[in-house]
Amino acid sequence: MCGIVGAIAGRDVVPVLVEGLKRLEYRGYDSSGIAVLNGVEVRRVRRIGRVAEMEAAALEKGVAGQLGIGHTRWATHGGVTEANAHPHISQGVSLVHNGIIENHEEQRERLRGLGYVFESQTDTEVIAHLIHHHLSHGSADVLAALQAAVKELTGAYALAVISAAEPERLVVARMGCPLLVGLGEGENFVASDVSAIIQATRRVIFLEEGDTAELTRDGVQVFGEDNAPVQREQHLSDVSLASLELGPYRHFMQKEIHEQPRALADTIDAVINAGSFDASLFGANAEAVLSGITGIKILACGTSYYAGSTAKYWIESIAGLPCDVEIASEYRYRQAFADPRHLVVTISQSGETLDTMEALKYAKSLGHTHTLSICNVQESAIPRASELVCYTRAGAEIGVASTKAFTTQLAALFQLTVVLGKLHGKVNAEQEVDYLEQLRQLPGSVQHALNLEPQIAAWAERFATKANALFLGRGLHYPIALEGALKLKEITYIHAEAYPAGELKHGPLALVDEAMPVVVIAPNDSLLEKVKSNMQEVRARGGELFVFADQDSNFSASEGVHVIRTPRNVGVLSPIVHTIPVQMLAYHAALARGTDVDKPRNLAKSVTVE
Ligand code: M6R
Repeated sequence: MCGIVGAIAGRDVVPVLVEGLKRLEYRGYDSSGIAVLNGVEVRRVRRIGRVAEMEAAALEKGVAGQLGIGHTRWATHGGVTEANAHPHISQGVSLVHNGIIENHEEQRERLRGLGYVFESQTDTEVIAHLIHHHLSHGSADVLAALQAAVKELTGAYALAVISAAEPERLVVARMGCPLLVGLGEGENFVASDVSAIIQATRRVIFLEEGDTAELTRDGVQVFGEDNAPVQREQHLSDVSLASLELGPYRHFMQKEIHEQPRALADTIDAVINAGSFDASLFGANAEAVLSGITGIKILACGTSYYAGSTAKYWIESIAGLPCDVEIASEYRYRQAFADPRHLVVTISQSGETLDTMEALKYAKSLGHTHTLSICNVQESAIPRASELVCYTRAGAEIGVASTKAFTTQLAALFQLTVVLGKLHGKVNAEQEVDYLEQLRQLPGSVQHALNLEPQIAAWAERFATKANALFLGRGLHYPIALEGALKLKEITYIHAEAYPAGELKHGPLALVDEAMPVVVIAPNDSLLEKVKSNMQEVRARGGELFVFADQDSNFSASEGVHVIRTPRNVGVLSPIVHTIPVQMLAYHAALARGTDVDKPRNLAKSVTVE
């Protein structure tokens, strides 16, 4: 979704802004723009489409300056037009904004009454005029005007503001949307995502809710919600430049699929090294919290929800605790029953998904006191709002379709399961050793599954011409069928649905004919015989079956039944291994269809709006 970058330096900041915006492209956007101050003149360039087009326009116009802000916009209020693209300007005050201002209509009316003329349909332009209004009615400078303006806003915002009259400062504010300050030598930066400034600095300060800050070339001062100066901790970001670059791969999704053995190894590293599943993985206070809870409620969206759905099977069968999993956007709007003895687990790759964040706040408002976040982005909003945290170590995920984030979420959830099992007396020392061994072998099994790529690519050619597909799984592998269908529809735009295989005869079987490919996840587990019966139901109606079996499964290909064998069954961790083929199927089908794999239409990487 929207992205912010800003800089104040002793050099031309346009290359910094443009590079930052390019690094934010993965989040999804439809237009971009920059505003740069050179002396007392603000030069603004905005374009619909790719950042490269805006960059070319800036170059052509010779835009340069030592203070500037930039933005990638994902349209919410007002269509995709140049006039709606950020930065917005009100008589010398230029500003970029992430988030949504809920009282923008009321403010718009008021500002119109004060003589302001609106050039866009955005909620953002309201803020520019409001800051200008305060500047011309008593605020001492743009910082004071910003601090006064935000007090009149309701909603969510990350803001970066420059004023033509104050070329020595860049001011920013945060409420409900991530914003961080990057600390350089004789130059400072602001960004909504560390990837936007990582080429310039790794030293960052994560702003907190209600903070404002002033950046000059030589320093940064942060102010709390009451406008009093505050100290915020400095962090050294561990995002690597290599993780933001494509290297030898064609797409980030392809790169990220292939990074999974490494990402999983990093995520399980602490457990493997310690030789035990220790509660401290989830924070200093985790043992006390996790021993005292009597159940789990998981809240998440999209792929993260499917990770939670898989974990439910693990948590109930291995840790012996009740677990329910809910789509965050549903939970946050229903009259839910809250049992404060239950631990609320949020799962979010980005850590900034609005629905998940709001669901977490709602759970707390209902009386939940124990919360744990499983997240891939250090210091993002959701872990910061949680009591316990487990960071997956997938590295930056750029492709919109989540791949390595999902499998590392599963690895983290499995670790949580075993920790809970130990603390609640359901996992003994011998079983712990066994789970440890299974985990140790996981990266290798995933690598083995990746080696199936040529066979899967050949299947994908056949999928590419289809209009629909069905995915079937049972038990632990039903969520993997859901994930396979989501991957396929997200990046190929083929309509795909997933069902628990046993549910087929209760309706979806009516869809099956010769034109319907049916993907079956059929590991060699206790449900295999049941799955085989379900496959017969499909074959009898002429449906073509594409089966992912295990090396040690006892069944073979036949007329209308195609089989690819993943490694030998890896027990409870099998859902992680069986995810790899469905990711590759979607990826290769998308290649065959020529869709934009990394930036599928209508989707964004971080969904920070409702
Ligand atoms: O960042 P999150 O994990 O909270 O994101 C949740 C979903 O938006 C995300 O998983 C989405 O479904 C992916 N694009 C799926 O590939």
